[in-house]
Amino acid sequence: MRIITADTYEEMSKKAAAIVCSQVILKPDCVLGLATGDTPLGMYKELIKMYENREVDFSDVTIFNLDEYCKLSRESTQSYYYYMHHNFFKHINVKKKNTHIPNGMAKNIDEECRRYEQKIKEKGGIDLQVLGIGANGHIGFNEPDINFEAETHLVELDEITIEDNSRFFSSRDDVPTTAISMGIKTIMQSRKLLLLANGEAKAAAIYKTVKGKICPEVPSSIIQLHPDATMIIEKNAAKLLYPSAEQ
Ligand code: GLP
Repeated sequence: MRIITADTYEEMSKKAAAIVCSQVILKPDCVLGLATGDTPLGMYKELIKMYENREVDFSDVTIFNLDEYCKLSRESTQSYYYYMHHNFFKHINVKKKNTHIPNGMAKNIDEECRRYEQKIKEKGGIDLQVLGIGANGHIGFNEPDINFEAETHLVELDEITIEDNSRFFSSRDDVPTTAISMGIKTIMQSRKLLLLANGEAKAAAIYKTVKGKICPEVPSSIIQLHPDATMIIEKNAAKLLYPSAEQ
């Protein structure tokens, strides 16, 4: 596990964008796995700037998103479909047919999960998977007590996640309680992982991810076993890793 500490959110975002950009330069038809949440927003802004400056070309890139809420239409401003189109896809030259987000409105969710997993395999797997992290150590929507063998599947959201994500909804009751998420197995099969974390609220989760026991109670702890994982951690999120360091 490679750990890069960043002094600011901007520095974290720029470094993350540089890594994604070099992946696309090295393999223009690569498969990227992308994440939602507040954390990667700065990275998307940087990548858009790089695209506008003609430093990167997404025309042959395929994208798979980690997860999507169930029972939220694509038009809902809280859906991850909306998030990705609004914050990234519409600003770059990725082809719509090459962007994939699980369909949380599918009638048969199990079937949709199988279809999504199959599609990733057909494309040869994910070259670089970007991850955020929940305060409880979730990655994607793989909540504590996860089965490490799971592929894309239906998840019940944890109370902490519902609480954390309620800030995006008008009330806590509006937050969906289920989602489709790539499983830990899907994520771990990605050739490279890039996890971003920002802010003190993530410090405990980051400590457990890096120094804790590998266990299903902390889904992100499995990253310790990945052969090519990079974490870019803003200094407040890293504070428990280096307790004596001056902040
Ligand atoms: C959601 C997403 C995760 C994301 C997490 C953290 O639950 N499913 O993929 O990593 O939130 O979000 P934030 O970056 O807003 O803290």
